[in-house]
Amino acid sequence: MGPLCDFTVALLLLAFALSTCLCINNSSNREARLVRSVYAFQNKSTQHERLVNNNYNPAKTSKNSVETKKVHPESSNEADISRDSKCTMAPESRFNCARDRVLSQGECEERGCCYAPLPDSAGPPWCFYPSLYPGYNMGPLSPTPRGQEATLTRATPSHLPGDISTLHLDVIQETAGCFHLTLKDPSAQRYEVNLPAGVPQTEADTKEALYTTEYQSDPFGFIVRRKSNGRVIMNTTVAPLLFADQYLQLSTALTSPLVSGLGEHYTSLLLDLNWTSLTLWNKDMAPHADANLYGSHPFFIVQEEDGSAHGVFLLNSNAVEVMLQPSPALTWVALGGIFDLYVFLGPDAPSVIRQYLQVIGYPMMPPYWSLGFHLCRWGYTTSKTTRRVAQRMHDAKFPMDVQWNDLDYADKRRVFTFDPWRFGDLPQMVDEFHKKGMKYILILDPGISSSSPPGTYSPFDDGLKRDVFIKNATGQVLIGKVWPGPTAFPDFTNPETRSWWEDCIRDFHSKVPVDGLWIDMNEPASFVQGSVDGCPDSDLENPPYTPRVVGGQLNTGTLCMSAQQNLSTHYNLHNMYGLTEAFATHRALLKVRGKRPFVLSRSSFPGIGRFSGVWTGDVMSDWEQLRYSIPAVLQFSLFGVPLVGADICGFEGNTTEELCVRWMQLGAFYPFMRNHNDRPNAPQEPFIFGQKAQAAMRSVLNLRYSLLPFLYTLFHHAHTSAETVARPLFMEFPTDPNCQSIDRQFLWGSSLLISPVLEQGAVELAAYLPPATWYSLHNGQPFYSKGQYLLLPAPLDTINVHVREGHIIPQQEPALTTAASRRNSFYLTVALTAGGWAHGDLFWDDGESLDTFETGNYCYLVFIAGQSQVVSDPLRLTGALDGLVLGGLQVFGVPSPPLYVLANGDKVRDFTYRSDTKVLIVTGLDLPMSKVFTVQWAL
Ligand code: GLC
Repeated sequence: MGPLCDFTVALLLLAFALSTCLCINNSSNREARLVRSVYAFQNKSTQHERLVNNNYNPAKTSKNSVETKKVHPESSNEADISRDSKCTMAPESRFNCARDRVLSQGECEERGCCYAPLPDSAGPPWCFYPSLYPGYNMGPLSPTPRGQEATLTRATPSHLPGDISTLHLDVIQETAGCFHLTLKDPSAQRYEVNLPAGVPQTEADTKEALYTTEYQSDPFGFIVRRKSNGRVIMNTTVAPLLFADQYLQLSTALTSPLVSGLGEHYTSLLLDLNWTSLTLWNKDMAPHADANLYGSHPFFIVQEEDGSAHGVFLLNSNAVEVMLQPSPALTWVALGGIFDLYVFLGPDAPSVIRQYLQVIGYPMMPPYWSLGFHLCRWGYTTSKTTRRVAQRMHDAKFPMDVQWNDLDYADKRRVFTFDPWRFGDLPQMVDEFHKKGMKYILILDPGISSSSPPGTYSPFDDGLKRDVFIKNATGQVLIGKVWPGPTAFPDFTNPETRSWWEDCIRDFHSKVPVDGLWIDMNEPASFVQGSVDGCPDSDLENPPYTPRVVGGQLNTGTLCMSAQQNLSTHYNLHNMYGLTEAFATHRALLKVRGKRPFVLSRSSFPGIGRFSGVWTGDVMSDWEQLRYSIPAVLQFSLFGVPLVGADICGFEGNTTEELCVRWMQLGAFYPFMRNHNDRPNAPQEPFIFGQKAQAAMRSVLNLRYSLLPFLYTLFHHAHTSAETVARPLFMEFPTDPNCQSIDRQFLWGSSLLISPVLEQGAVELAAYLPPATWYSLHNGQPFYSKGQYLLLPAPLDTINVHVREGHIIPQQEPALTTAASRRNSFYLTVALTAGGWAHGDLFWDDGESLDTFETGNYCYLVFIAGQSQVVSDPLRLTGALDGLVLGGLQVFGVPSPPLYVLANGDKVRDFTYRSDTKVLIVTGLDLPMSKVFTVQWAL
């Protein structure tokens, strides 16, 4: 969090408005550049407001309009008539021709565009492209080994500076479901994204493509159709392609308004298509509406009307803006790089995510302990305090695996040190935690303090020697300002930086054996604009067009855009800073500890799920942020980052007891569960609340711990098959229209439905149950749903969780740590269909060794229920399950009382049956998990 972030949301918005105004004032200092146009953000404001509020400078525009003045061929009378006929589209289908700045009618028509004011000027643009607006002309398509290629040429210049008038088009059928298109400058190498190596290349499959393509040659555009039904998935002929040095634009019609993705924003699961603009520019910014947040994910998924789905990914790390309009349609704008576009044809939503992850990489397998409960706050100011909170958690019998420290531990807030007075015994403290079966994590900011006397702080001294820091435009180490004061920023795109980082981690780990690392402030965040010396005046710092970003300019709260990194400028690489740091940190931990790494990152970019989990940043302790944490988590699921959660009970501001109980209940179903708090706030550890609240928190923590074998198995499927863990309902019930937009409830995998209370004072809840029989996880009570909302009791001690018929959930008796719970008996929750069937599975290994799946060092069991019995089928066994037993099971939906129960053929004495709920509970079993077992009940 930067100092700015201490403001409330209202203040942030005010600050944003002010910064926009400041741009107007500051702009007079930039006269030297004014030959170029100054572009303004225009969406959602009225035409009048645009003139007043935007960084629109009439002086500059008039200069620019003189400079770029060109007589468009269609400005004659004859052309006017033909233009009129091309200007008759419905307002919602208009594509803005004046995104760069406000244009008068004359200026608009000079561009060859249509000008038609509307009574309500808030939405559709008044200046818009006519149909068939001249753009690039495509030459003949010729075959390539995996697709086709062509040359595109632009005869008339666009209104943009730096047009690239010849483009090379390359289309590739990556797989049957993945269409890949690139547009590049054939005459000069432009920056292209390089994702960290190691994504297994999918073999080009020979299956028949799920799509067909059509090309319009003049002006260039393309159409992608779903072959099975002819549905148009993409149609870029609706508006012109623009490709200039710092401005690339491509529009497409959308086949349905049900669009999700394009993070990271504070939004519902379905995006608002009512002339919304979303900027993707990584920013240290507390979650709030209409702001670019910590991560950038230029990927979206569309639910089609028949329940199929497709996805689109623009592999581009420059600042990206996406405009959504109700026709429905979408416009990509990228401030650099190339067009590198993937279309995933599914045909269902899970396949879309798998196809996307085949490009960016499947998520890592987290260590088992990292699925336990984590406790953190900024303000555990000494090792004594830190020990005490962990002890109080233990004494109050709250399951917890990981104790964290924020910056408090560090000496003068410098990473890789610890405060000799307040944390002098940090190494001993970590050892003590380890002896108790717990883990320990601390924060690691990327900024390396640059102001310690030479010879006193080796991370900086060594870093200088090894030349690992980002440089400014003139080649000196760029100095910004973060928590320790002046700091240099490691350039993780440099291999030498990665080995220096590893050395720093190794050295620190030899003193403080941390189990994982929390990489914060890695947008990267800086408290000064660009650097302590400012930034040069250049097109990188102030591009011809800047999308609406918090703070007004690309370099606010971060580094100069002209800063030099090994791979390219910071302008091109900014959005990848967190990804490259996560990659380096993951690799370092792997080498230093020799075990599965745990990294938690704030900033993110496609592919980060391979190396790290993500948390959703500095959320407020309020009910609205509790509610929006669900779509935030679900979006990261779509982005291939299954290990995700929000700061439970809220980070900024004081929580209340009720909010904190409800947040612990929801948080128990975040794939990553951490309670974290800001320095000035009232405490929010579970043990500080009243007995009732504590009991509710304890019970939900125990519930989570009991479900960890199931959660771990879901992560295994995420890691090996790109399945989602926290899952939106639409992915499981794609043809149920009620599920299209639900984001107040979600699933774990395909079988657990979580319906948390999200409103203050609520003790009941209208939960949607998709068509199926659902059983309350708490007592097995069945609900036969045709797809309906049910009013469910939800007193303070209850979160509603339902098991879907046909599924078996592997569970384990909870304990205060996973080290202990992993030794406890397993039990199965079996949710039968009306026909008496169910299935489930369990992935099990030692929980922390590297690559257990890849090396075969794991167990995998399948459970099948049918004909009044449950059978285990161990498909793969190693020693990991030795000594572990099945202690019992609960079977939901048993129609009548069993006469007897047999376990591996022997009569069982300990079983009960409840006729009201039709639940059979069998206890007292002792069946080895590593052998086939059968439990039968005789009806
Ligand atoms: C940032 C992080 C927050 C952390 C704080 C101090 O604001 O988002 O989680 O507590 O910095 O390190």
